[in-house]
Amino acid sequence: MGTSGVQRSCHVSATAIVVVLSCFICVASSEMMLFNKSTRRSRDMKLEEQRSSCDLYQGSWVYDESYPLYNSSACSNIRKEFDCQKYGRPDHLFLSYRWQPNDCDLPRFDGQDFLKRFQGKKIMFVGDSLSLNHMQSLLCLLQAAVPDSNIIRQSNDTFSTVTFQDYGVSLIILTSHYLVDIEEEKDGRVLKLDSIKNGDIWKNMDVLIFNTWQWWYRTGPKQPWDYIEYDNKTFMDMDRMDAFRRALTTWAKWVDSDVDPTKTTVFFQGISPSHYHGEEWNEPGRTNCGMEKLPMNGSTYPKGLPEASFVLQEVLSGIKKPVNLLNITTLSQLRKDAHPSSYNGFKGMDCTHWCVAGLPDTWNQLLYAELFNNFTKRKAKKDQSRNLMMNT
Ligand SMILES: *[C@@H]1O[C@H](CO)[C@@H](O)[C@H](O)[C@H]1NC(C)=O
Ligand SMILES: *[C@@H]1O[C@H](CO)[C@@H](O)[C@H](O)[C@H]1NC(C)=O
Ligand SMILES: *[C@@H]1O[C@H](CO)[C@@H](O)[C@H](O)[C@H]1NC(C)=O
Ligand SMILES: *[C@@H]1O[C@H](CO)[C@@H](O)[C@H](O)[C@H]1NC(C)=O
Ligand SMILES: *[C@@H]1O[C@H](CO)[C@@H](O)[C@H](O)[C@H]1NC(C)=O
Ligand SMILES: *[C@@H]1O[C@H](CO)[C@@H](O)[C@H](O)[C@H]1NC(C)=O
Repeated sequence: MGTSGVQRSCHVSATAIVVVLSCFICVASSEMMLFNKSTRRSRDMKLEEQRSSCDLYQGSWVYDESYPLYNSSACSNIRKEFDCQKYGRPDHLFLSYRWQPNDCDLPRFDGQDFLKRFQGKKIMFVGDSLSLNHMQSLLCLLQAAVPDSNIIRQSNDTFSTVTFQDYGVSLIILTSHYLVDIEEEKDGRVLKLDSIKNGDIWKNMDVLIFNTWQWWYRTGPKQPWDYIEYDNKTFMDMDRMDAFRRALTTWAKWVDSDVDPTKTTVFFQGISPSHYHGEEWNEPGRTNCGMEKLPMNGSTYPKGLPEASFVLQEVLSGIKKPVNLLNITTLSQLRKDAHPSSYNGFKGMDCTHWCVAGLPDTWNQLLYAELFNNFTKRKAKKDQSRNLMMNT
């Protein structure tokens, strides 16, 4: 596996298991007679295994008029930052793009199936407003599937919970800009890079989806802390990428010490990109996403991956327990058209968040595929019949 500790739950499709098994039986029964042939076959088996692991995150955007998956005007309580249609976004083309991985097909999101399989479970998003963006899209996708279902909303300072009562499924958002703690002390607010006290709340969940990044470079009045602390030392400031790495490492240690993988499935939502520098997408001179109406063609973003995504990858690869990376970075970079721009409830230019409906629906399609291992490998049928022929 290329990304050592980063386990993906989606490697082997059911058909591939059948193929590999039948191949194995065949090889086993003929190995005495045909040694050379059987070593060749076991090599073919390895190839087949490699082919059956599909990278859901390598692909491109294709126009598909059967999208979007819901009409956002039928979805209640979308935050005013994300509700582009309500705030007058005139173009709709951006809603009709579907993510097409190169080697497999993503299942269409099936909200009823999701709720049935998740009966009695709790899904918690922990992070900044991009976690809320992600969660509100999931909420809209589910609401669209069961429009008459009873929904209960509860919130207090820490939590906001939406429960689909007929299924007992709860979506919970816990805002935590840095994952690690900020504490009020006598000299001011201290960002504690070694400390995670919320962990006891997180542990009781069935699915956890973490994210942090957007707040790490904030300075001045937008910075919600006065000092940084780690290794029992206090600093006025420090290299922010280094601070990000230290906090992620603290979180990673928490996963290894506190998560019970038989109960809780852990995801990390990869770095969500912003679009304020046109040279990153070959439009030098543009300083925001306001003119963007279409996704980029192809699979590569000219600027490449942001530095933070390498830091994230490095920390995740050191975790011993299984953590799934929702590797949304590149596919979202290609979506310079999917931000609210000025179509939001505060009238500022926003090329950081994403319209709902819109791109986060794809993040949830990927979550659905990862959770239920439910995707079909493209050309699987052809591979299977070729293999059967080889074996007879
Ligand atoms: C995430 O996906 C992109 C695009 O396929 C790839 O370049 C990158 O290596 C992936 N990152 C990880 C950690 O797998
Ligand atoms: C969504 O619903 C609203 C209100 O019913 C309607 O005016 C609008 O045309 C719909 N949009 C789409 C894209 O179907
Ligand atoms: C995959 O999801 C579809 C709904 O999109 C469902 O009908 C089907 O049963 C699922 N397949 C598997 C193998 O879980
Ligand atoms: C908020 O609500 C949750 C769940 O309902 C509860 O466990 C928690 O103690 C509450 N927190 C506060 C600060 O009231
Ligand atoms: C910080 O200080 C506490 C109490 O003095 C000690 O228990 C702890 O090991 C120290 N932590 C580090 C990282 O040095
Ligand atoms: C993207 O691909 C489409 C269809 O192949 C083509 O019409 C369009 O000109 C391309 N756009 C860019 C910017 O290359």
